[in-house]
Amino acid sequence: MSTTTETPFKVADLDLADEGRRLIDWAESRMPVLMSLREKFAQEQPLAGQRIAGCLHVTKETAVLIRTLKAAGAEVAWSGCNPLSTNDAVAAALAEEDIRIYAWYGQDVDAFYWSIDRTLDFRPTLTLDDGADLIFRVHAKHPGLFEDIIGGSEETTTGVHRLRAMADDGKLAYPVIAVNDAETKWDFDNVYGTGQSSLDGILRATSVLFAGKNFVVAGYGHCGKGCAMRAKGAGAHVIATEVKATAALKALLEGVQVMPMDEAAKVGDIFLTATGMKDILVKRHFETMKDGAIVSNTGHYDCEINLTDLNEMTVSKRTLRDNCVEHTLADGRRIYLLAEGRLVNLAAAEGHPSEVMDMSFANQFQAMMMLAREGKDLANGVHELPEELDQEIARIKLEAMGIGLDQLTEDQVLYATDYSQGT
Ligand code: ADE
Repeated sequence: MSTTTETPFKVADLDLADEGRRLIDWAESRMPVLMSLREKFAQEQPLAGQRIAGCLHVTKETAVLIRTLKAAGAEVAWSGCNPLSTNDAVAAALAEEDIRIYAWYGQDVDAFYWSIDRTLDFRPTLTLDDGADLIFRVHAKHPGLFEDIIGGSEETTTGVHRLRAMADDGKLAYPVIAVNDAETKWDFDNVYGTGQSSLDGILRATSVLFAGKNFVVAGYGHCGKGCAMRAKGAGAHVIATEVKATAALKALLEGVQVMPMDEAAKVGDIFLTATGMKDILVKRHFETMKDGAIVSNTGHYDCEINLTDLNEMTVSKRTLRDNCVEHTLADGRRIYLLAEGRLVNLAAAEGHPSEVMDMSFANQFQAMMMLAREGKDLANGVHELPEELDQEIARIKLEAMGIGLDQLTEDQVLYATDYSQGT
């Protein structure tokens, strides 16, 4: 661990700080909503006195969020929420900005939890998560911190599901805001963010042609839908696998072929898991895949592709390109695993574009503000952000894009609830 002035940190290489600052500048130029929140609250300092511990991918977009939290008065400590998603240049720049940052690309599991623990040394009043590992860690190892913690926020669908289960069992010891559930988060980040960044990750790791390929997406939730949409646009034949009838029907009506994975495994050229569930691709699938099949994951955890199965079937392995490992099986077939089965969009590319993270992180900022204001009055459980905030975030975004809206007249407003008029 090192220090700048009084601030402790651990990053890969401080010499990368200048490159990191340029990346953050680029992201700031694409994130008008967060920048307007920064300007609005710089004077008032509504987060003064708050110590925020964050556990979320260390990217240029996250740096814009961190700077905005700091500008509003908070002290911040941070770790990455995935061993392969930290941008080392951005981490170095943040260390030089007196952020207690403990993050580097390629952490092992021990270093991952060591980093989370260092952010907890600073006794946070608020926690900010993507995947809920920080909240789980506080509950499992540091319950003494409950007395200081007012509340937390959670970014992902997977994290929110687990926190709801924890709350239902009466085990969640502080209020958590489900940032994922804001419309300006899930309807944009999950769909367009995941759609573009996952294809970006697959392309950077492989440079293959999508046109004419069978692209199999496991899961047709918001993330799967975005990936299917973009793969279709790139000329692939898209196949979705699903366990939920309504989701399968939506895929079908979007022109996506639907079939069980046992069948899709035999015909797919490129596989992408986007389910949030474990064991989506297992031994019996690898047994029937075509020679040259590419397998990747964009779900939060690295359990969707069963790596134990794949490794047991592998007779030889070699890294062909960054984030692309060739597994040769006993019968000579080759399967290409991307980014060790971790989220391909962050491990092999740069995550979602700044423009969508702008809205996701405006919601994170608003969650911290809400907790600082009224967290002490909220019950221990999972809460949502008020709907008006979605409209405000969308309005600022549209304004920045120079897009105008129509306004209902008073007469039209009355008409909407007038049950005396029919045909
Ligand atoms: N999750 C997905 N994309 C991201 C990004 N660019 N920054 C932080 N978290 C992300």
